Amino acid sequence: MEHTPDAHELADLELLLSGAFQPLTGFLGHDDLHTVAERGILADGTPWPAPVTLRLPADVSPGDEVTLLDPEGVPLAVLTVTEHEPDGLTAGPVRGLGAPEHGPFARLHRTPSQVREALGGRPALVVTMRGPLDDLTEIIATAKELDAAIVLLPLSYGEQGPSVVRAALRARDHLPEGTLVVPVPLAPREEPEIDLELREHVATAYGATEHLAGPEPVRIPGPPHRRGLVVFFTGLSGSGKSTVARGLRDALLELGTRTVTYLDGDVVRALLSKGLTFSKADRDLNIRRIGFVAAEAARHGGLAICAPIAPYEATRAEVREMVESVGADFLLVHVSTPLEECERRDRKGLYAKARAGLIPEFTGVSDPYEEPDDADLVIDTTHLSIEAAVSQVLGALRSGGWVR
Ligand code: ADX
Repeated sequence: MEHTPDAHELADLELLLSGAFQPLTGFLGHDDLHTVAERGILADGTPWPAPVTLRLPADVSPGDEVTLLDPEGVPLAVLTVTEHEPDGLTAGPVRGLGAPEHGPFARLHRTPSQVREALGGRPALVVTMRGPLDDLTEIIATAKELDAAIVLLPLSYGEQGPSVVRAALRARDHLPEGTLVVPVPLAPREEPEIDLELREHVATAYGATEHLAGPEPVRIPGPPHRRGLVVFFTGLSGSGKSTVARGLRDALLELGTRTVTYLDGDVVRALLSKGLTFSKADRDLNIRRIGFVAAEAARHGGLAICAPIAPYEATRAEVREMVESVGADFLLVHVSTPLEECERRDRKGLYAKARAGLIPEFTGVSDPYEEPDDADLVIDTTHLSIEAAVSQVLGALRSGGWVR
């Protein structure tokens, strides 16, 4: 069978295959994870600080071989399953398939053994970096003292990855001749001490006689009026969310200070999600598609307005996560007009049809609507004009600094 791991797992896979995670040769199983968490060692007593895990939703058994693919479908490695737990955790050794690496700065990647060979037995000062190096004097002095070569390992995982590599390349210009820069996609671990210990292990694999951890990056997010924003309206059919969303779009276009992408439920279903039904699975897919497009717009600093019913809490949470993972903000607006009012209005005549049993799985009638408890703004349009509703949302955008 085949499986595409998530970004964090793929980064770990690359390090397992390159030897940067030596002595590990695969994803960890139950016993190892237990001793790692308890005592920072593998079950056989070898020091190892951090979990390295893979989740496989499908059913597999020990002995099965799983081909691990990158998101574009290129086979990267074969995993031989040794353990598979009910929660999906899957352990086993991995064997690389020699797929060429791609991604920003892939040409700079070197395996630990390639770097150790290049060092030719010389002592090495290895510097792991998650952000720019603000002071090179300590590095230069330490290298001189040890008569060591310098190896910069920008930890190039995630959105900030390329900028850390650029920082390393800039630093190299001010460091002794022969300083190496080798990006390593080491995903950060939640606990700083564990992250640091893991960096130590990776540095050792790359031949470190001495390891220096670069300073923790201080991330100053841009001002809100330049950051991406997704305004996500949710509410029953007929609640007024499309009308308010459209009013917001128009008001923003009149102001002219932000670029706007508008993803109304009915509009999306005419093209992007054409052919999807109103089953739970299809609604989830519809919302994920909307979230994907909105996050892409927000990644570039755009403002996206979405207005689907989005009846399920878990899927809304997924979209919030997609948006925040690209460094943008997410504002959830619950248009909470009660069912009785939506049904009384019944602008499209759909509630009458749903009650008559002509439309199955109709939200609020024969399909659930999970009320959000994490809305940033709640608007009931029962006794509110469109203008007033729009100006409430606009007011929230102003007070959050997203619109000036
Ligand atoms: S969602 O559940 O996937 O978020 P979406 O916002 O795209 O729904 O589409 C909702 C619109 O589709 C409603 O405004 C209504 O016009 C129409 N519709 C058709 N069938 C249904 C149904 N079974 N449930 C809800 N809306 C429906």
